[in-house]
Amino acid sequence: MTVVAVVGLGGMGSRMARRFLDAGHELVVWNRTPEKMPALTGLGAVAAESPADAARRAEVVVTVVSDPDALRAVTKGTTGVAAGSGEATTVIEMSTVGVRAVSELASALPAGTALLDAPVLGSLAEAEAGALRIFVGGPDPLVARWTPLLSVLGTPLHVGPVGAGAAAKLVANSTLFAVLGALGEALALAEGQGLSRDAAFDILAATPLSAQAERRRRAIETGDYPARFPLALARKDADLISEAAGAARTDLRLGEAARSWLAEADEGGWGHGDYTAVLAWIMGRRP
Ligand SMILES: NC(=O)c1ccc[n+]([C@@H]2O[C@H](COP(=O)([O-])OP(=O)(O)OC[C@H]3O[C@@H](n4cnc5c(N)ncnc54)[C@H](OP(=O)(O)O)[C@@H]3O)[C@@H](O)[C@H]2O)c1
Repeated sequence: MTVVAVVGLGGMGSRMARRFLDAGHELVVWNRTPEKMPALTGLGAVAAESPADAARRAEVVVTVVSDPDALRAVTKGTTGVAAGSGEATTVIEMSTVGVRAVSELASALPAGTALLDAPVLGSLAEAEAGALRIFVGGPDPLVARWTPLLSVLGTPLHVGPVGAGAAAKLVANSTLFAVLGALGEALALAEGQGLSRDAAFDILAATPLSAQAERRRRAIETGDYPARFPLALARKDADLISEAAGAARTDLRLGEAARSWLAEADEGGWGHGDYTAVLAWIMGRRP
């Protein structure tokens, strides 16, 4: 059994931490808002005083926070993960933060501290069920060493050296956002031409968007988009995708269009709702 620290007990981190506990690992937790810790300490986890304290107490430190700024906040400085890490520590970065933040983290860690980046695909239900897809970046022996631990959370896929996990996650999300944008626009076009909603879904069933249309149909018809993956975080990912494309000199026109829909919906007040509420935003636009 491993002593695992989870830093960041949001929607994803709290569920991932619970899985480690249920699998019999010793769990240390830290969260900026301490009120989120008792749910896990009540089940046997130990509350750390700071991310550095969490790192000092654990063999593996998993970070799962919102964005690159949050990752900096929990890893740098005197109370950060780096300050509490040593040669026996492995840091596994599982937020969606992009390659630049991962390489910044690698530079901040002491020499000898091991690092994997392992962002995840899947949302709250998958985190709870241990059914996430995990894109892992790191050297072969380190990945092999921690694959059994990561398997508690889902299915690890080793995609390359450190940073490759972060890159892979952006590739995956670029497809999600482009598909949602296309779906929203197709529905708006159907409505604009006077086709009924039922007819629109029948048409979409005959297209490559068939599965997505069916999956989102209930939310579209009820207007209820329960927050699982907040739209503000999806916007952050779209910005990271754009930044990665710029650095890679890759022309992502659909990606930029999808990003603009998410940005508008966020500014229109949908940031705390689920990212799929971008569909409601697109369909509600009447330029
Ligand atoms: N939700 C999903 O479906 C999903 C799916 C795949 C990947 N992800 C990624 O997983 C990560 C976590 O997502 P989530 O859904 O768990 O988000 P969340 O519920 O909003 O939780 C965010 C976590 O980050 C912490 N945090 C934010 N800013 C901080 C700061 N400046 N200093 C310290 N801690 C800070 C929050 O602490 P407080 O509790 O104090 O606010 C909280 O623990 C994100 O990178 C997201 O893109 C999410």
